[in-house]
Amino acid sequence: MSEHTVTITDNKTGKQIELPVKQSTIGPQAVDIGRFFREMGYFTFDPGFLSTASCQSALTYLDGAKGELLYRGYPIEQLAEHSSFLEVAHLMLYGELPGKNQLESFNNIIVRHSMLNESLKRLFGGFYHDAHPMATMVGVVGSLSAFYHDSTDIHNSDHRKIAGHRLIAKMPTIAAASYKHSIGEPQVYPDNSLSYTGNLLNMMFSVPCEPYQIDPVAEKALDLIFILHVDHEQNASTSTVRLAGSSLANPFACISSGITALWGPAHGGANEAVLNMLNEIGDVNNIPKFLARAKDKNDAFRLIGFGHRVYKNYDPRARIIRKMCHEVLAKLGDENDPTFELALKLEEIALNDEYFIERKLYPNVDFYSGLIYKAIGIPTNMFTVMFAIARTVGWVAQWMEMISEDNQRIGRPRQLYTGPTMRDYVDINER
Ligand code: CMC
Repeated sequence: MSEHTVTITDNKTGKQIELPVKQSTIGPQAVDIGRFFREMGYFTFDPGFLSTASCQSALTYLDGAKGELLYRGYPIEQLAEHSSFLEVAHLMLYGELPGKNQLESFNNIIVRHSMLNESLKRLFGGFYHDAHPMATMVGVVGSLSAFYHDSTDIHNSDHRKIAGHRLIAKMPTIAAASYKHSIGEPQVYPDNSLSYTGNLLNMMFSVPCEPYQIDPVAEKALDLIFILHVDHEQNASTSTVRLAGSSLANPFACISSGITALWGPAHGGANEAVLNMLNEIGDVNNIPKFLARAKDKNDAFRLIGFGHRVYKNYDPRARIIRKMCHEVLAKLGDENDPTFELALKLEEIALNDEYFIERKLYPNVDFYSGLIYKAIGIPTNMFTVMFAIARTVGWVAQWMEMISEDNQRIGRPRQLYTGPTMRDYVDINER
């Protein structure tokens, strides 16, 4: 069978190039433009990567038009219904769902890495008390690089595994400690007898002076949200982790760079921004005014929690989390809290508004996750931290996949230069 190719003609010179098309298992195939510059003398230009596959990956598939999301081939709906966060973590890292014994031993490995080095713990004291927990996360996760020299030979697959396990295990401990520092309470040690999310809740909300009961509704809701946030193809933070990792940098530093990219309100910071926006809207009667602002091209205001770069249909994660959101609000939400009424009204109005329908702007996963976090008592500035805990699994899996590639090379995009042409230096007295 002849190879599928695409031929590109330069209309100025008549020169042609025949480029091979790389096959995918599902979804769009990709034209391999690796030789394009060498042979045609042009770079390709695609800011925001609208048409560019930056790598090949066997981890996550998403079809934005259909609203489909698969982790290693499994539909997110099935994983959300039947699986658990740690089971999904095993699937992403090692390619298959674990058997009972495998899951037990994976769980044992993770819980045995959940404590922090006591010296690392002291680092938290260096942050000012009102530091945003994401700022603390960036610093503390990056500083793990200074502790685990036994697991940072990135060419050694056992080291890569240990680094991955440490990251997944320590993220909840670091997250809870960042929060405790911000409210001036003592850090709580992890408890190996608890579930991944139960342990996180305990470390965030228990205090040494009284017993704390983990709410099973909150524990289950968090586990579901974490499954939904595990991985999402080559988004901004994942691409950042891959790019940092492509220079063969330390894995802990790479994940820290992912946390930085996640923080922005156009990405993972949206869940926090949703709540801030709802507070700004304040009242159901103000919705029309804010909707008009969101549609006004001269106003920078956007309806946060709506729209997605890839999904031009309902985000399948949003569909799942929406159901959980309504359940959690019914069980744990403060019925008198106007935010929930406001959010549900906004959802209803936007879903029926011509502007949003035309542009296929549906509520995204962050719209609902913020509401669930609020209902289970997670403070607003911890919302994006929650996202970071779950996404660590995806970042680690993507980093491992990239490092183990045969032809792994440093990422080095090119540019379209638009600055001044060459000019001579002018002495300071003559400027
Ligand atoms: N409110 C109002 N208008 C919007 C919105 C919004 N939230 N999102 C997109 N639009 C409009 C946009 O103005 C444009 O209109 P027109 O065609 O008339 O110029 C059209 O819809 C297409 O938007 P775009 O900016 O080309 O879309 P994009 O793919 O570059 O941006 C996005 C995607 C997620 C950054 C954007 O929809 C947005 O800013 N949403 C709000 C922030 C948010 O909720 N982010 C979380 C994303 S999901 C989780 C994650 O990635 O971490």
